[in-house]
Amino acid sequence: MEVVILPDADAVARLAADRVAAVVRRRPDAVLGLATGSSPTGTYARLAAAVAAGELDLSRASGFALDEYVGIPREHPESYASVIRRTVTEPLGMDPARVHVPDGRAADLAAAAEEYDRAIATAGGVDVQLLGIGANGHIGFNEPTSSFASRTRIKTLAPRTRADNARFFDDPDEVPTHCLTQGLGTILEARELLLVAQGEAKAEAVAAAVEGPLSSMCPASALQLHRRAAVLVDEAAASRLRLADYYRYTYAHKPGWQGA
Ligand code: GLP
Repeated sequence: MEVVILPDADAVARLAADRVAAVVRRRPDAVLGLATGSSPTGTYARLAAAVAAGELDLSRASGFALDEYVGIPREHPESYASVIRRTVTEPLGMDPARVHVPDGRAADLAAAAEEYDRAIATAGGVDVQLLGIGANGHIGFNEPTSSFASRTRIKTLAPRTRADNARFFDDPDEVPTHCLTQGLGTILEARELLLVAQGEAKAEAVAAAVEGPLSSMCPASALQLHRRAAVLVDEAAASRLRLADYYRYTYAHKPGWQGA
C-alpha cells in the first residue's frame, strides 16, 4: 500500500485528482468508481476545474457510485443519486447515461444489488475507485464486520454512521436505516484504489486501516489485500500513523518512473 502524507486537504485533493486524470488521459472511456461524502469533494472540484479549463475530457468515461440509501426518493437532495449528479456528473461533464448509482428504491433490492455488480462487470470493471473512510473504518457503507468477500447488497447503517450523516438531513430521524453498498469484494476488484482522508476525526480509522490487523472490524483494512492501493491523507488524518516518517521518506524518494 502506498501512503502519502500531504500538508493539507487541498494537496490531498490535488494529488487524487491528478491520479484520476492520469487514468482518464490514458483511457478516455475509463470506468471511475465514485464515492460520496465530504472526503472526495475537493477532488471532484479539482477535476471539474480541469474539465472547465479544457485540460480534461470525461464525456466518454463512465462512473459507478459505491452506495445509495434505501427508502428515500431518488429526487431527495441527499440521495446519493442526487449528490452524484450535483457533485460529479454535472460539474465533471460526464454523460448521465454512463453514471450509475445503486437503485435504493427497487422493489426487489437483492436483485437490484446483483444487477449492479453485473453492470460493473459488463462495463469492464472499475479502473480507479475513489474512496473516503468512515470514522468507524467503513468504506462505501461496509460497516464493521462486513465480509471481505461481500458483494453489492443491503446493509443496515451503524448508529455512528447515521449520527455522522445526520448533518446532511434536516432531522436526524430522517437519516435512512438501510442502504445498498458495493461489497468489499466488489471494491477490491477495481484495478486501482485511491482512498482520501482529511482531518483528525479520521486519524484513528486511517491508522487501523493502514497499520492495524486485517480485520472486518475495520473494513478499510481490506485495502491491504489490494496490489494497487494508495491512501492520501493530510497531516491531521495521518497523526496516528506509527510509520509516518517512513511514508514521508518513501514518497520523497519515489522513483520518477512511477509517476506522481
Ligand atoms: C459516507 C459514505 C462513504 C464515505 C464515508 C465518509 O457515509 N457512504 O462512502 O466515504 O461515509 O464520509 P465523509 O467523507 O463525509 O467523512
